[in-house]
Amino acid sequence: MNKVKKAIIPAAGLGTRFLPITKAVPKPMLSVLDKPTIQFIAEELLAVGIEDIVIVVSPGSDVIQKHFGKADDLENRLLSDGKKKLLDIALATRKFNVTFVEQKIPNGLAGAILCAEPFVKDEPFALLLGDELLYAEGNETPCIKRLVDVFEKTGKSVIATMEVFGDDVSKYGNIGIKSEDEDGVMQVSKIVEKPSVNEALSNNAIIGRYVLSGEVMGMLKTLTPKGNEIYLTDVLDELASRGDLYASGFEGTRYDVGDKLGYVKANVEFALRSDEIGAETVAFIKELAEKL
Ligand code: G1P
Repeated sequence: MNKVKKAIIPAAGLGTRFLPITKAVPKPMLSVLDKPTIQFIAEELLAVGIEDIVIVVSPGSDVIQKHFGKADDLENRLLSDGKKKLLDIALATRKFNVTFVEQKIPNGLAGAILCAEPFVKDEPFALLLGDELLYAEGNETPCIKRLVDVFEKTGKSVIATMEVFGDDVSKYGNIGIKSEDEDGVMQVSKIVEKPSVNEALSNNAIIGRYVLSGEVMGMLKTLTPKGNEIYLTDVLDELASRGDLYASGFEGTRYDVGDKLGYVKANVEFALRSDEIGAETVAFIKELAEKL
């Protein structure tokens, strides 16, 4: 059965690049305009009808649970004041079936995925990394939809990639390509994690969106740790060597909101798109640009 019904969002990073805000506010709660990044990511899943989400958080992230939970006082107040639009916004935060698990030991991405094992067991799952937002507009196909479509057609794991050049290849997992079909779906031959420019196999970098088959959880469990961590890349490389891994580019825009500049870019672009403040933001940016 190739249906993808569950998703894991690892969001346990300490966010030290964003201190001091992350001292008291968990990084996934940093907002782009008025919405926390973790909600944007959960909403990507609506495009594929996945509502069962496991969010892997660091200890002390209760505010994330609060965000996705019921807020009786607020909801009753908005209801009695007849503020329908605001009530809808508040209610939209709890239409997901979210389970929270704590990653107590900071043992990397694969460690975070294994924290979700009791909920996902041996089912296929979507994996969406918390530091990246993927935005599709108009007739663009959302990245996660494209991955789910490939998985449901082939039954094989599939990862999203983007083209990178120069030193940027060393920032990401990198794929070797065996073949590519007419839809741009690539069969992956090999994976290397954050290679030097010389070691890179291609210009295709792995981004934080994956749909992984049911066997991946079991494969992660058998890995030998390197230092403190086990690596998802090792499992992906094994799948690739067996011809069981696909990759695909995506339509739309990716924001690296784990990085200060990427975070600012996301805020500016979402402000420009906003019905509420878009026009004023354009005017402001033009005025500012003249002074620079
Ligand atoms: C992880 C993956 C890497 C991927 C990246 C995408 O790395 O290990 O393969 O390219 O996410 O953001 P991290 O950024 O967690 O070091």
